[in-house]
Amino acid sequence: MSRVNRREFIKQAASCGAALVWRSMAAHASTVRWQERRDFFPQGVASGDPASDSVILWTRRPPASQAAEKLTVEVAEDSAFRRVVAKSVTQISGDADWTCRVMVAGLKPRAIYWYRFTDEHGFGSRVGRTVTAPADQDNRPINFAFVSCQNVQQGACNAYRRMIWEDERKPAAEQLGFVLHLGDFVYEIVWYPEDRPQGMYARRLRDLVRYESGEKINDFHVPTTLDDYRNLYRSYLLDPDLQDARAHFPFVCMWDNHEFSWKGWQSQQNFGSSRPAQKVKIAANQAWFEYQPGRFLKPDHRLLEHFQAPRVSNTPLKTFDDHGLGLEENNLAAINSLKTYRAFRYGKNVEMILTDNRSYQSESISLQPLFAPFQVQDFPAQSEEIILTLDAGKTFNHGKPPATIRFKGQELPNPRRDAAPQSVLGSVQKRWFLSRLRKSQATWKIWGNSFGMLDLRLDFQNLPPEIKPQWTYPGYGLTSINDWSGYRTERNEILAVVRREKITGLITVVGDRHSFQAGVLSEALPPKEFKPVAAEFITGSVSAPGGAEAAEYNMAKDHPLRPIYLHQASPDSPLSPAINLSLMHGVRAALALQKTGDVKQALAARNPAHAPHLSFIDLGGHGYTTVRAATAEIEVEFVCIPRPVERSDRTDGGDLKYRVAHRVKRWKSGEAPELLRAKTEGELPLIS
Ligand SMILES: [Fe+2]
Repeated sequence: MSRVNRREFIKQAASCGAALVWRSMAAHASTVRWQERRDFFPQGVASGDPASDSVILWTRRPPASQAAEKLTVEVAEDSAFRRVVAKSVTQISGDADWTCRVMVAGLKPRAIYWYRFTDEHGFGSRVGRTVTAPADQDNRPINFAFVSCQNVQQGACNAYRRMIWEDERKPAAEQLGFVLHLGDFVYEIVWYPEDRPQGMYARRLRDLVRYESGEKINDFHVPTTLDDYRNLYRSYLLDPDLQDARAHFPFVCMWDNHEFSWKGWQSQQNFGSSRPAQKVKIAANQAWFEYQPGRFLKPDHRLLEHFQAPRVSNTPLKTFDDHGLGLEENNLAAINSLKTYRAFRYGKNVEMILTDNRSYQSESISLQPLFAPFQVQDFPAQSEEIILTLDAGKTFNHGKPPATIRFKGQELPNPRRDAAPQSVLGSVQKRWFLSRLRKSQATWKIWGNSFGMLDLRLDFQNLPPEIKPQWTYPGYGLTSINDWSGYRTERNEILAVVRREKITGLITVVGDRHSFQAGVLSEALPPKEFKPVAAEFITGSVSAPGGAEAAEYNMAKDHPLRPIYLHQASPDSPLSPAINLSLMHGVRAALALQKTGDVKQALAARNPAHAPHLSFIDLGGHGYTTVRAATAEIEVEFVCIPRPVERSDRTDGGDLKYRVAHRVKRWKSGEAPELLRAKTEGELPLIS
């Protein structure tokens, strides 16, 4: 956001529900009687969405033995508050669950500030630290981190401890400006420990949250009311490492699915079949708004003093626009109750564009009954060709979709012959996104994209005949069908704009897949034309279990496909994620590894046409990712920690498993981006 005048600021603060504090001209020592009482501010403090002259500050002061209704916020240039530059008093109330949002404006660009809140009794929050964005013309390198998928019930936030520890040891110019959180900040699906005494894989289930209303589905519980969602955030924010991270860095947050519902789309939930859940979507939006300090707007930019929950009923969706958006009025009211997609400039080098991939997304074909006859049952993947046909609907084959689809030797009627292609963004957001992308003058257009675009396929068609079952389905096996790689028509529509209009410097940064992945994005892969137009980096989860861990516990020891997923050099040695090798080089490479135990021989059996788009993949990695965006190149570093089953008691968050960086030089209009492995530390698990 560029520097704007005072009137504009007042409007902006009001439209995102924050009180406004303006920086005073002269710094002075604090005169507030502040006695730190973290127990009165149990969720800590946070800051969010930094601009070059403003940032949003946040805390929560619930009624305790001494209730409070007013908080004084102070912002200083030093952590001892000897140079206070802004001070104001704001009201808190139960209407917003005793949370407090304040926008501080008139700040200097690229500057560190400290802040704290004090109630009318002198009880104070911990001290938070925040950083403003660089000025628009500042061309120095930009540093930030991105994360996703923190399951506090099933694991520890050691990643944040390491992030803070490493950052404190860096020279000022290399310190992180902010943490981009790409979703699954909370997991609404909760197993009460007694419902699953065996835990999750080898992980202990913490007794984290109990929903007062809630609903039990199978053996897990989901929130149903505003208070259930508030309870979830309150519980998550008690995690000491997550709380420290929020107090140390400004956060920029975008939700993914679990902030609302596991298989949710628009205002609908799916626990077997889709059901209307407009009231639940609004509850989820309100809790997000109360607990995440960000510049979220009402779509009409009306004053959003407090979140105003529209009255809705849970009504089924019957009619849809040509992007699969349910036109039912309660659906529209629910999803329009909060607009989170947004973009901001971060110095000369970065334009950050964040999309909401869930609120306007059309119902995934895989959730619909029409998909059942096309479901591959004997492999943990779906047929890429079938997905392409069903995704594209009436637009398949240049508008000439087949009347029938051949599957398992049968000709089945094409149920999507007359249907519109699937959409992630919806028409309005897509128009906004493309226009923002086209207009951006920044060196790097960084797309904060909650889920991935890189195709993850397995060449099961190359399994040797002695392995049963045999893959009898058309094309490759596709392992990710509920993200962009299954919403291929719209993904390719966007990539085609980038290619045709020769847009350079597009980097998508992604969460959701619970794994580290790096590669380039092309509309198609061999044997079709491979033409990269952008690069993508996906971060491993902070703590939620990934695919390799699931395979360790779910794949039977005598399963014929086990070597494709897991490798064990000898019965006593640890399991390693052979799936990394399979996804990068094809199934024959993993099978050769099992036979020979030698990675070189495994690579000799690789299928070179398999994944020319992938530079790195680790389905077993956890941690976080840092980005350094400079004028000439961008460097993205994966910081991988051991599986965070329990909290480390070390100040550095525990061991580092590996660190690996990839560089992309700024490519010219019309050229293809190229990833170069820049440096590694530690051992990479079956990646070469
Ligand atoms: Fe996740």
